[in-house]
Amino acid sequence: MTLKRLAMRRHQLFPNYRILVKHVREQELRDQRRLRELELKYAQQLSREKSHEDFVHMAVHELKSPVTVLKAYLQMMGMKLSREEQHTLLSTIEKMDVQLDRITHLISDLLDGTRAGLGTLHCLMNDFDINESARVCMANLKAAHTDFVTELDTDPSEPVAYGDRERIEQVMNNLLTNAVKYSPGEKYVKLQTRLVEGQIVVKVTDHGMGIPEHKQQQVFDQFYRVDTDGGKKVPGLGLGLFICADIIRKHSGQIGVSSREGEGSEFWFSLPYRG
Ligand SMILES: Nc1ncnc2c1ncn2[C@@H]1O[C@H](COP(=O)(O)OP(=O)(O)O)[C@@H](O)[C@H]1O
Ligand SMILES: [Mg+2]
Repeated sequence: MTLKRLAMRRHQLFPNYRILVKHVREQELRDQRRLRELELKYAQQLSREKSHEDFVHMAVHELKSPVTVLKAYLQMMGMKLSREEQHTLLSTIEKMDVQLDRITHLISDLLDGTRAGLGTLHCLMNDFDINESARVCMANLKAAHTDFVTELDTDPSEPVAYGDRERIEQVMNNLLTNAVKYSPGEKYVKLQTRLVEGQIVVKVTDHGMGIPEHKQQQVFDQFYRVDTDGGKKVPGLGLGLFICADIIRKHSGQIGVSSREGEGSEFWFSLPYRG
């Protein structure tokens, strides 16, 4: 078939061929323009988020510096008071030091909470001994809360986990701190590690105030705090569990809670098992 015939045939089949081509081209141009607009918006959004994170990072640094200096001064005063055996003043200094540690934690939570919200909280994955982490976290808790009855139940097979050890210890510490914070009555905390169906499962149990069933899933949301009478009395930012959930998500693990109001809670998370 000659070219001329082809053109005629095409004209018979699609009488509006030229209009159709023009229409398709215009649509293509519109799509390209829209794509460019979206790319630009995305780049602007990324740079806004980056400057938001940069700002929080800078603010955190600015807030942490005076706290570090204050801690150093307190330490010097503590040493002097200890030499002079001024025990009452020394105990006041120790209480001030505890409060400064609280401020440091709150500042760190603000930074990690921002990062978790922006998806920029990073984890450095490695093999590590999960039982050793549990022992360290429990020892810290026992030292800080001598009034609590504690129980540590580690898996006898000494499993090796795959993840960011520091971040996982941050999760354990957060769950243990919550267990203490939300247990105004019976002061009991248990930390357990177990190998279950090829995964490592870590559980923190308390006999505290518990969480009403319909609020249990929301506790992992950013800034969420349970507004029961008991809960309202305990200070906090509502960022701890949000950060924990993000860290565990980065490990392809799961996090959850089962709880009964007035009886206690069991928070757990799972992690990849290495051997
Ligand atoms: N072990 C627990 N027992 C009872 N309530 C808890 C426990 N852990 C967390 N919660 C509830 O979940 C909320 C969110 O916890 P979290 O994100 O750690 O924030 P924060 O402790 O700063 O309030 C808390 O305000 C509290 O109401
Ligand atoms: Mg908390």
